[in-house]
Amino acid sequence: MARHLITSALPYINGIKHLGNMVGSMLPADVYSRYLRQRGHDVLYICATDEHGTPAELAAKELGLPVAEFCAQAHDAQKAVYDGFALAFDYFGRSSSPENREITQHFARKLNENGFIEERAIRQVYSPTDGRFLPDRYVEGTCPHCGYDKARGDQCENCTRVLDPTDLINPRSAISGSTDLEVRETKHLFLLQSKLENEVREWVARHDKDWPQLASSIAHKWLTEGLHDRAITRDLDWGVPVPADTWPELAAEGKVFYVWFDAPIEYIGATKEWSDQDTENRDWKSWWYDVDNDVRYTEFMAKDNVPFHTVMFPATELGVREPWKKVDYVKAFNWLTYYGGKFSTSQKRGVFTDQALDILPADYWRYFLIANAPESDDSSFTWEHFTATVNKDLADTLGNFVNRVLSFSRKRFGDDVPAGGVPGEAETKLGAEIARLLAEYEEHMETLQFRKAAAALRALWSAGNSYLEEKAPWLEIKTDKDAAALTLRTAMNLIHLYAVVSEPFIPATAKTMRQAFSLADDTAAWVTQEEAKSLTAVPAGTPFTVPPVLFAKLTDEDLETYKERFGGQEG
Ligand code: MF3
Ligand code: ZN
Repeated sequence: MARHLITSALPYINGIKHLGNMVGSMLPADVYSRYLRQRGHDVLYICATDEHGTPAELAAKELGLPVAEFCAQAHDAQKAVYDGFALAFDYFGRSSSPENREITQHFARKLNENGFIEERAIRQVYSPTDGRFLPDRYVEGTCPHCGYDKARGDQCENCTRVLDPTDLINPRSAISGSTDLEVRETKHLFLLQSKLENEVREWVARHDKDWPQLASSIAHKWLTEGLHDRAITRDLDWGVPVPADTWPELAAEGKVFYVWFDAPIEYIGATKEWSDQDTENRDWKSWWYDVDNDVRYTEFMAKDNVPFHTVMFPATELGVREPWKKVDYVKAFNWLTYYGGKFSTSQKRGVFTDQALDILPADYWRYFLIANAPESDDSSFTWEHFTATVNKDLADTLGNFVNRVLSFSRKRFGDDVPAGGVPGEAETKLGAEIARLLAEYEEHMETLQFRKAAAALRALWSAGNSYLEEKAPWLEIKTDKDAAALTLRTAMNLIHLYAVVSEPFIPATAKTMRQAFSLADDTAAWVTQEEAKSLTAVPAGTPFTVPPVLFAKLTDEDLETYKERFGGQEG
C-alpha cells in the first residue's frame, strides 16, 4: 500500500485568507488526508506559509516592522486560524526556513551543473518615482492576450497566462500608479526552461491521464504556448540568497531567488523542517527522494496555481537530475465567488477565515464549503445558501436526528442503549441502503470528488431520518416497547456510524457524537460493509449521554446581521 504525500498550495504570508482560499486548497486537502488516515494509510500532509517576495516586504514596511518579524507574526496568525479550522497538518512550515534555503540552493547548484541556468544581463523596469526596481507583480497593465486591464507583470489573473512586465500594454507602477517607468540593466539568473520543454511535455503526457480536466487542460494550454526561459532571481532583501560558492558576483550584489522558485521547493523544505523537529525518527527524504512508486503525491490548489505545479515545478525537478518525487495527482479548483463577484478585501466584501470562526464553529464552514466546492465550475457563496444549508443538512438532518433519538431513548429507557426486539425487514433494508451509500461515499472520496462525497454523506444522514419516520418509535412505544427499543438501538448505531464516517468533514462534532457512547472498545477507524449492513456495533446496555444541540439553527435575524456586516448582493 503506497504512502500518501499531500500538500496544499502554500498561502502567501501577508493577509488572513478568505473562504475562497480555504476551499480551494487547504480544506479539501485536510478532508482527504483525514479520510486516508482513517482508512489506515500512511499519510503526510504538509503545508507552509509562502513568505518571500515583495508583498511581504511592503506589508512589513507599512507596519514599521523588520520583515523577518512581520513574517514570524503573520505565520503564527495564519497558523492559529488553521488550527481553528481543525486542519490537521503533519507540519505547517515556513518558506523562509533554513531548510528551504538549503534545498533551494542545492536545486539551483544542480540546475547550474546540468546546464539549465545561465547568467544574463536584463533590462528591468525601474521606477524613479518609487526609487526602486519594480518586481514583476508590481507592474500592472493590460494583458496582451485577453485585454484584461489589471493584469500583473507576472501573470494575468483573467486568462492565467504567465507574463513578463514588458509584455504589458500601458504599464504602470502598482505601488504609486506612476507611468514614468524606465528600464535599467542588471544581471540575473535564468532558468533555461526551453531546454526542458520536451521532457516536460513527455512527463505531462505520461501523467495527466487521470488528472481532473481542469488541471490537465491548463497544463496543456500552457505547454502550447511553449516554455520560455525565466529569470529566477530578484533584487530584493528578503529571499533565499543566491549561493556565493556558485555565483559570487550576484551574491555580493545581494540577489535572491524569485519567490516562485523557492516556494514549491518548500513542500520539500517543510518536510525537512518536520523531520528536523524530530521526536520519532522522522525521515523527510524517505517521502521525497527516490520513492517513485512507494509514495503517491497529491497536490491541492486553485486554478491560477496550476501552471506552476504542472509545468514549471516539474521542469525544475526534472532539470535537477536527481530522483525527487514529482506530483501524481493535481486536484485543482475553480473560484468561490461572493454573490457571483470577487471576494474583495479593499471593498470589504466577502468572508475572511478568522471572521468566519468568530461567527460559527469550524464544522459549519467545513461542511458548507466542501459540499459546495468549486470543482467543475465556479460556485457562489451567499448567506442565504449558507444559512439554508446549515439549517437543513446540519441542524435538521444530522443534529436533530442525534438529539431526538438520544433524548427520547433516555426519557423512555434510561441511560443505556435499550435491549429488546429482533431486527426485521426494515432493518435489513436500512442496512443495505447504508452499505450502498457508504460504498458510494468511499468511492467519491477516493476519486477526490468532494461535492459528490458530501452528497453521499448527506444521503447517509437522510437514510436515518427516513428510517425513523417510517418506524416512528414515539408511536411504537405505546403498543410494543421492544419494537421501539429496536428502532432506537438501530438509530443509535447509525449515530455511531455517522460519527465515524463524518469525521473528515466535521471532526469536532464527530468526536462529540462518538463520545456520547461509552463503548468498552471504541477504536475502529472506519466502518466495514458488514458493519454497515448489520448496524450492531453499539450493543444494548451501552451507557450513553445526550450531547448538547450539535448545530444551532440560524435565524432570519442572523442572516440579516451577516449580510449587513459582510456586504450583500451586488456582486
Ligand atoms: N502563494 C501562492 C499563492 O497563494 C501559492 C504558492 S504554491 C507553491 O498563489 F507552489 F509555491 F508552493
Ligand atoms: Zn489575460
